[in-house]
Amino acid sequence: MALRITLLDGKLHDRSGFSCGIAALDDYLHQRAGQHQRDGIATTHVLTDDAQPARILGFCALSAAQLHLSELQQGDLKRLPAYPVPAMRMGRLAVSASEQGKGYGQLLLGHAVNLALSVRQTMGVRVLIVDAKDAQAAAFYERYGFRPTTSKALSLYLPISAA
Ligand SMILES: CC(C)(COP(=O)(O)OP(=O)(O)OC[C@H]1O[C@@H](n2cnc3c(N)ncnc32)[C@H](O)[C@@H]1OP(=O)(O)O)[C@@H](O)C(=O)NCCC(=O)NCCS
Repeated sequence: MALRITLLDGKLHDRSGFSCGIAALDDYLHQRAGQHQRDGIATTHVLTDDAQPARILGFCALSAAQLHLSELQQGDLKRLPAYPVPAMRMGRLAVSASEQGKGYGQLLLGHAVNLALSVRQTMGVRVLIVDAKDAQAAAFYERYGFRPTTSKALSLYLPISAA
């Protein structure tokens, strides 16, 4: 098994065969991810196994974002200028229903954090934002240090620090 994470390629990856059990996430991959990628709205990163390169095991969608200072917890406000903080948003994260519990969600999340760290070397990125669909999904993110924003418990952020 050789896993890799690459950008969605409509000619290579089987989008319609993917199902995570959440219709909104499946529909996004089936119907909108390609268009969003072409239009500069979000990029979709897919996890595949070289043994079956067309089969999508999981995906996440990333875009640029910002977070208002009032959304940050008090302890995260130190040394920040008085305008919104630059961010990367992982708008969607999903693992195929048959592949959940194998560490793939963690792998895709780690990929997004690494990308944010890498982008941070060429432009400002202070936090990674995620939108959890429910309290259970929020619990997944909290395991990795994500903190709820002050206004929406299902919107969480992770400070991205080079240190
Ligand atoms: C949530 C989701 C992305 C997690 O992916 P996964 O591949 O099943 O999770 P992993 O195997 O990487 O789990 C990593 C760790 O998180 C834990 N975990 C998984 N789902 C969790 C949840 N909902 N709440 C708390 N912890 C969770 C696992 O037990 C594991 O812990 P361990 O390392 O101590 O064993 C996946 O279950 C999924 O696609 N669910 C449907 C869509 C969804 O809810 N997306 C979330 C964003 S809205």
